[in-house]
Amino acid sequence: MEIICPICKNKLFKKFNSYYCINNHCFDIAKEGYLNLYLKSAKKSGDEKEMIQAREDFLNKDYYLFLKEELNRILKELKINSLLDLGCGEGYYTSYFNIEEKIGIDLSKEALKKASKKDPKSFYILSSIFNNPIATNSIDAILTCFAPIAYEEINRICKKDGYFILVRPNVKHLYELKEVVYTNPYDNELEEIKLNNFEIINEYSISNHSILDKQDILNLFKMTPYYHKTSMNDMNKLLEVNQLDITFDFIISIYKKS
Ligand SMILES: C[S@@+](CC[C@H](N)C(=O)[O-])C[C@H]1O[C@@H](n2cnc3c(N)ncnc32)[C@H](O)[C@@H]1O
Repeated sequence: MEIICPICKNKLFKKFNSYYCINNHCFDIAKEGYLNLYLKSAKKSGDEKEMIQAREDFLNKDYYLFLKEELNRILKELKINSLLDLGCGEGYYTSYFNIEEKIGIDLSKEALKKASKKDPKSFYILSSIFNNPIATNSIDAILTCFAPIAYEEINRICKKDGYFILVRPNVKHLYELKEVVYTNPYDNELEEIKLNNFEIINEYSISNHSILDKQDILNLFKMTPYYHKTSMNDMNKLLEVNQLDITFDFIISIYKKS
């Protein structure tokens, strides 16, 4: 794994509990174990504590185990040695895979504190995925799971013949949740993917559904983008629901770098 300085792009070297480049830019390893490459210019700070806690509580119930197992199957089949998980959150997926070298990047300190405490086998870095500290042409496979797509950085970092795996919500994902909250629920729209130098080798949907209780429904809602977009009035409708049978519907796309 080669890590580069987010300021001058020179190689970073480890010395005690810090990383340095030849220009003496210095970055610390936090006590939880993640490398802190956060630059104030990133201006963002990733998901906040409440969302992270809701996501961790929800994911710990393993409603998304079927997706995690499917990703594990794909990665085994690709026979890769290095994986970069962009927008890795608390490492729910990163931590599961049996791969020699795993790196997770996220802009949320709260998420990485949790990830690095429970998964010392992966290397977690606090950084923007858009100004990525991973060396060019150095990674076998890159995963983006429900996170923004850093097109240019994916193209730069992925080795030739390497892979990019994208997981997105499919059209019916969480439809029943939206039926409770919104008067006119809508299907999710799929963004057009414009990746230079990659060809798609497989794309398919994978779905499941589970009956959730009140607490899990609220946690699930908090981890979605709807949480910030929904009025308090609409959100309160969720408090009246005790149980809900919810569809989990994902689309997995696998690209190969040519
Ligand atoms: C919906 S969560 C998905 C987390 C994880 N992949 C999962 O599925 O459990 C999206 C994650 O992307 C991170 N994120 C958003 N913008 C980012 C950026 N510019 N750089 C790094 N991470 C970012 C957020 O902090 C959050 O943890």
